[in-house]
Amino acid sequence: MENDVMIELKNLTKKFNDFTAVDHISFDVKKSEVFGLLGPNGAGKTTIIRMLSTLTRPTEGTATIGGYDIVKQDNKVRQLIGLVSEKMIMYDRLTAKENLRFFGKLYNIPKNTLNERIGELLELVQLTKWKDSKVGTFSTGMRQRMNVVRALLNMPKVLFLDEPTLGLDPQSTVEVREFIKKINKENKTTIILTTHMMNEADRLCDRIGIIDNGQITALDTSTNLKKLVSGDDATVLKLEIPNLTKKMVTKMESLDCVKSVAQENASHIKIHATGDKAFDAIIDAVRAENAKINSIEKLQPTLEDVFLHITGREVRDKADTKIPVKHGPGHRGFRQRRRVR
Ligand SMILES: Nc1ncnc2c1ncn2[C@@H]1O[C@H](COP(=O)(O)OP(=O)(O)OP(=O)(O)O)[C@@H](O)[C@H]1O
Ligand SMILES: [Mg+2]
Repeated sequence: MENDVMIELKNLTKKFNDFTAVDHISFDVKKSEVFGLLGPNGAGKTTIIRMLSTLTRPTEGTATIGGYDIVKQDNKVRQLIGLVSEKMIMYDRLTAKENLRFFGKLYNIPKNTLNERIGELLELVQLTKWKDSKVGTFSTGMRQRMNVVRALLNMPKVLFLDEPTLGLDPQSTVEVREFIKKINKENKTTIILTTHMMNEADRLCDRIGIIDNGQITALDTSTNLKKLVSGDDATVLKLEIPNLTKKMVTKMESLDCVKSVAQENASHIKIHATGDKAFDAIIDAVRAENAKINSIEKLQPTLEDVFLHITGREVRDKADTKIPVKHGPGHRGFRQRRRVR
């Protein structure tokens, strides 16, 4: 194994009876990389994370974390990893500190070390002020930061984040994303995160694997993925023309290089065109109509365009409406986390 590889998947496969949820997936994640698994509902993201975090066994194929096999050396793997899953697991009636002490004890971390670490982590997520407040009073963003802190208690080298901002409001989403970046930067933690939000993957991830129907359909940096779309010399221009007329729009639509023209409002149009002469042809056509151009913007393709380009379908780019489940003491949530199927 190459020295800078932290996670390695080889033909990793999971079948549920006849249904293949994860279909011979292979890729590497480098040390201290933030790797995104991006795909629609049911693509197989959670199943990959569950296999890598030893919660469920692969039907076929292998994976290693830090060189340890996820099946044969699952105990070693567990010492290296932290997991934040879709489920929120915190005790409302305990304070932030009490919750973290409880979970820390489960990792057998010595008391003094644990207290010190809790202090540092609460500081890192800017929750020190609320360390003695009951978690039940926390906003969803604060709770999610607490969940990440819990996953960091054993100082994992690898952190799995399954939909870390699911169900959070925009403000909390930003907070959690900032925090993820900070952990990666300060602790050099290798991170795999799953998301169906294009902008989240774009902002956070060094590389992105687009996953669809249990398969990786593309894997690269966001910049390179976008080149897949613009590679066919497509151009998207946004023009602001204060004296825009219907005639001008019709004229632009009639240009050979123009694929479509969308009028966004009274003065803005968005033009999809192809060919290296498209830019000049469009500007010439506008000028020939004596139009005044206030601004021209050459738009970059988005990951949304990439997904559409690869799969022919759109991924919804909205926060899920699922309400995160709160678990009280004694709930089987935590035990479930450690169970191997
Ligand atoms: N325990 C299970 N038994 C049967 N089918 C399962 C089980 N777990 C997952 N699946 C199926 O496997 C497929 C992949 O599910 P998975 O939860 O990995 O998708 P996902 O990409 O995480 O989706 P989402 O964005 O909704 O979280 C889905 O069709 C799901 O119904
Ligand atoms: Mg999932």
